[in-house]
Amino acid sequence: MQDRPLSELTPDQLAAEALAALEATADSQALEGWHIAYLGRKGRVTQLIRRVGELPREERPAFGQRANQIREELEAAYDRQAQHLRSLEMEKALAEGALDVTLPGRPVARGRLHPSTQILRRIAAIWADMGFQVYRSRDVETDEYNFQLLNFPPHHPAREMQDSFYTTQEGVLLRTHTSPGQIHAMRDYCPQPIRVILPGMCYRYEQITARSEIQFHQVEGLAVGRNIRFTDLKGTLTDFAQRMFGAGRKTRFRASYFPFTEPSAEMDVECILCNGRGCRLCKYTGWLEILGCGMVHPVVLQNGGYDPSVFSGYAFGMGPERVIMLRHSIEDIRYFWGNDLRFLEQF
Ligand code: DAH
Repeated sequence: MQDRPLSELTPDQLAAEALAALEATADSQALEGWHIAYLGRKGRVTQLIRRVGELPREERPAFGQRANQIREELEAAYDRQAQHLRSLEMEKALAEGALDVTLPGRPVARGRLHPSTQILRRIAAIWADMGFQVYRSRDVETDEYNFQLLNFPPHHPAREMQDSFYTTQEGVLLRTHTSPGQIHAMRDYCPQPIRVILPGMCYRYEQITARSEIQFHQVEGLAVGRNIRFTDLKGTLTDFAQRMFGAGRKTRFRASYFPFTEPSAEMDVECILCNGRGCRLCKYTGWLEILGCGMVHPVVLQNGGYDPSVFSGYAFGMGPERVIMLRHSIEDIRYFWGNDLRFLEQF
């Protein structure tokens, strides 16, 4: 469009050429290109105006006047086109960004609580109903609290039950159970009566398999008072089991051994899958082992600051991950800390 040399053009012909080119600009980038090509410092209109000097003297005023007029007209046309293109671009952007309110919404992935957190909260709620407060105890313990004060003598074979993660500091380890929290709670509350549960993570230096993890939760329970008997332990734990596993569910207590309780027992509940008839889950016994428990050993009461001739108490400890596994027939404990969403999203 610009091929005709300027010398052959009258101002009006150049104006016609420029206007045609202006109309052909389709976006602001092309428009800027047009402005440079015609009205810029080296643009065709600018050059045309400069040519006034080459003309015979008498033609100069009319030519110059017309050329300047044309420049002003083109500037005005440029402004109109700029505005036109801006509104076109705006319309286009609006059309592209238009929101179709009739489209179905995109689902937002909802986060949820880890199954262990869910069961810990349920357990805590049941115990809260029965007057037990949550008592938090530390994850990093001393050998003294984790074993000695709980009546594990230095070479007691019961220590062999628990392989520990020791820290680089002598006598400091990750707690292997929540029971050391009993001593902390007793020393904290003494001589007041106590009703607490102690939930928390425990750590054991073990081979990780489908049945054992190096970390898992426990919920410890402790009641200390002036007149607490084994029947209180049985009644309270049976009540818990029925709130947890269903009204009417039977429990049984088997004699057991723990260094920090005397007598000690293990509580079984009627199998939640077969209701006691016998199945794979309960290994055809009709019973599931749920927790360890017992009357707080007099030595442990004493270590907590309580006079065992005046005070007595009971304690228990359960594994919430085990409870979840039983309830949902999960056969591999490694799912819990594997962070596999396919597992976690099922809860
Ligand atoms: N601490 C025991 C364990 O880790 C569980 C336990 C058993 C806790 C009996 C208790 C209890 O408080 O009375 O295996």
